Amino acid sequence: MERANANSAGSELRGAGAGARVVLEARDLRKSYGRGVQALQILSGVNLSLREGEMVAIVAPSGAGKSTLLHLLAALDTPSNGAVYFGAKAIETNDEAALAALRNRAIGFVWQRHQLLPDFTAAENVAMPLLVRGEKFASALDRALGLLEEVGLAQRASHRAGELSGGEQQRVAIARALVTGPSVLLADEPTGDLDEQNAWAVFELLERLHRTHRLTSLLATHNLAIAARCDRVLGLEHGVLRTRPAAAWAMGTPEGEAS
Ligand SMILES: Nc1ncnc2c1ncn2[C@@H]1O[C@H](COP(=O)(O)OP(=O)(O)OP(=O)(O)O)[C@@H](O)[C@H]1O
Ligand SMILES: [Mg+2]
Repeated sequence: MERANANSAGSELRGAGAGARVVLEARDLRKSYGRGVQALQILSGVNLSLREGEMVAIVAPSGAGKSTLLHLLAALDTPSNGAVYFGAKAIETNDEAALAALRNRAIGFVWQRHQLLPDFTAAENVAMPLLVRGEKFASALDRALGLLEEVGLAQRASHRAGELSGGEQQRVAIARALVTGPSVLLADEPTGDLDEQNAWAVFELLERLHRTHRLTSLLATHNLAIAARCDRVLGLEHGVLRTRPAAAWAMGTPEGEAS
């Protein structure tokens, strides 16, 4: 398979992932909303290579297109141009069965606004992706309870999601993203609505799950200190991804060399 070009944001690696195979790749990904003179180009040629085992942060201002990009990478939306490759195979956006399998099994997604069903219990929320793919209720719930234990919420399993705190809801959303056993985790501002202490607690949980579940993870975040703890930091600027030295982000000087 042809690799992304040398300008891609996958070309500079340090730490985990260096030398490992590319798991998820975007090539010249473009996304516009609207048509004609009203058209709004949000992504104008994103190249990205996520290597097995690495944890990557995307940092960009509000409205830059982070959610748009994550949705495309998870096959939750269709690009205007370009393609996403999962395990070296192009995601066929016209094959609904393949798309459903990818979304339900291969990629775990933590939504920006966690999207839990407030009237269902934490355990039922976590079990939902398994129920959607036809697993029996008892076994789905059993697996959900195991995940809730991993995120430290076993004692909240039968509480309704709407009654949980913001940090607890985010943990439930993370458990739900991992219940299907994906190899890739995409998390859209997983610490966005949390205070500093809870933000770090959730990030440290993600770091631990990243290791124990042998994930390849991509996080969108506004938190520069959290981004700097990842293996790589990418900036999304004017619709393209650029590699940023993590230290520059942490010190609030995001003008590092573009790759
Ligand atoms: N379905 C849509 N139709 C039209 N415009 C859209 C649509 N979805 C997103 N946009 C626009 O695309 C731009 C990027 O949105 P996106 O949600 O990807 O940004 P973001 O970087 O995730 O922002 P935030 O940090 O606030 O979550 C915004 O200007 C938004 O208004
Ligand atoms: Mg967003």
